[in-house]
Amino acid sequence: MCGIIAYHGRRQAAPILVNGLRRLEYRGYDSAGLAIRGAAFDVRKRTGKVAELESSLPAKMPGTIGIAHTRWATHGGVTDENAHPHLGPEQRVAIVHNGIIENASRIRRHLERQGATFRSETDSEVIAHRLEQAVAKGQTPVDAMRTALKGLRGTWGICALFLDHDELVCARNGSPLVLGETEHGLIVTSDPQPLAEHTDRVIILEDGDIAAFGKGGLAIERLEGGQSGTSPITLEESWGEAELGDYPHYMLKEIYEQPDALRHCISGRLNAKTGNARLGGMHLTAKQLRKVPHVRLLGCGTALNAALIGQQLIERLARIPAVAHVSSEFRYQDPVVNPEALHFAVSQSGETMDTIAAIKEIQLKGGDVHGVVNVVGSTIARLCGQGVYMHSGPEQSVASTKAFSNMVAALTIFAMQIGRARQLSANEARVLAKGLQEVPDLIERYLADPGPIDDAVAMVLEAPSLLFLGRGLSANVAKEGALKVMELTYIPCLAYPAGEMKHGPIALLEEGRPVVVVAPDDAVKDKVASAIHECKARGARIILVCTEGDELAQEADVAIEVPRTHPLCSPLLTVLPLQLMAYRTALALDLDVDRPRNLAKSVTVE
Ligand code: AGP
Repeated sequence: MCGIIAYHGRRQAAPILVNGLRRLEYRGYDSAGLAIRGAAFDVRKRTGKVAELESSLPAKMPGTIGIAHTRWATHGGVTDENAHPHLGPEQRVAIVHNGIIENASRIRRHLERQGATFRSETDSEVIAHRLEQAVAKGQTPVDAMRTALKGLRGTWGICALFLDHDELVCARNGSPLVLGETEHGLIVTSDPQPLAEHTDRVIILEDGDIAAFGKGGLAIERLEGGQSGTSPITLEESWGEAELGDYPHYMLKEIYEQPDALRHCISGRLNAKTGNARLGGMHLTAKQLRKVPHVRLLGCGTALNAALIGQQLIERLARIPAVAHVSSEFRYQDPVVNPEALHFAVSQSGETMDTIAAIKEIQLKGGDVHGVVNVVGSTIARLCGQGVYMHSGPEQSVASTKAFSNMVAALTIFAMQIGRARQLSANEARVLAKGLQEVPDLIERYLADPGPIDDAVAMVLEAPSLLFLGRGLSANVAKEGALKVMELTYIPCLAYPAGEMKHGPIALLEEGRPVVVVAPDDAVKDKVASAIHECKARGARIILVCTEGDELAQEADVAIEVPRTHPLCSPLLTVLPLQLMAYRTALALDLDVDRPRNLAKSVTVE
């Protein structure tokens, strides 16, 4: 979603800002803009890609102080006027804002009654108006920010510039802002990645912080007064710029990065000789793990699908109840939280607002949450303060692929760790550990020759909608496949546990309708075979993902075979053809693979 980059220093601001905007593109956006502070603000903003904004900029935009933004529309349509930065009425203040001001309409009406006119439909513009009013009354920029934020409801990450003051002022409440002090000035961003090329020492603002940078250096205070408690940290894992290399799209690159990403995730956490598994960041002894009454996992989208797989693995290997929850529903169900239970928040970006809200609900009720997160130093990682990094490396494509695999792998390792502390035999664990360690090589082998994906794509292209079926672990792989195809191709997709098909979705079946079935060679394969027969009896055509050499392939119109693996590792193989199918179908439809319409990489609003 929206991204911020701001600069105050000795270098020319525009190139730093444009470069930063490029590094924020992966978050998803519909317009972009920047403002450079000179004798007046030079504001350039427009809908479309950063490259379009860049090519519309004058050859020179002199100035060493500026703010920039990528916008993902919430309040107001996708228009040039609604793009950020926004100026105050007299154009003496410029702001960029991430988040949502929930009571903006009321404030706007109030300002309009005082004679204000607005240039955009956004909620953010009210902040620029209030700030300008406050500085016009003689308040310092920091005090003006305090005044402007008073009574606002919602979330914000704000950077503001003032014509009459040589200061960059930032404020955070719910939308991250990261500060990097370099030898030539201060850079502020909404996620650490654009900072990586400038510095690895960063300060992550806490909710309620206000930071000001000017001639006197950097000062960080609390909204209510007093010093902030935040302090500089070193980014442990600097991702640098994710280059496309020879790949046409990030999604394809990330699909093909899965073997190495998995190796990083597994490395040092599994011992195939003893069958022991250990996630360092869990800080839980075997004694503590034995006492865990149940496990709850939280996630959205792909992270939820991975959590659903984790749920099954934990129950299966540790013999304790485990349940995965849709993060966005969690706190509204007024959940009962057992402080003795183990909670996991699964998130690639570590910035998903729905999951953050669920974590806060658990913490409020006395529970502890462990993060399973990719982005180091992200809000969820810091909010949980414990857990594991999944080490996928940067995932730029909006459609998550390698993060899914590493979420599943990390949760498999945890299931083994808690399993060994409880019921799981060393022998069973050794076999699984060996199986998991072999997966990266098997993925490499599959991706070298992925089978008849294009035949499947040809069937999908003709379909008005698609049904995905699977059972056991594969029911969740089917969900992940449906999500992937739907978000990339905009074809309506429905995923069901195969046994549920006859209770409703069977009504959709008709002559020629494709059904995607995920059926690796596991304990429930024969049950899935029955569902295949039921589909075929109604004229449906089957796209089957199955284990190499399985006779079940003969039942399919298109059979995509994946290498045999330990049945509990099968999701890591069976998901691959579905990722490729989604990718190639989107290509065939000439759609934007890496940035599907309406979607954002990190969903930072509720
Ligand atoms: C995945 O392809 C999606 N783009 C989306 O469902 C995503 O998984 C979801 O928004 C959760 O994001 P997170 O992992 O960063 O929390």
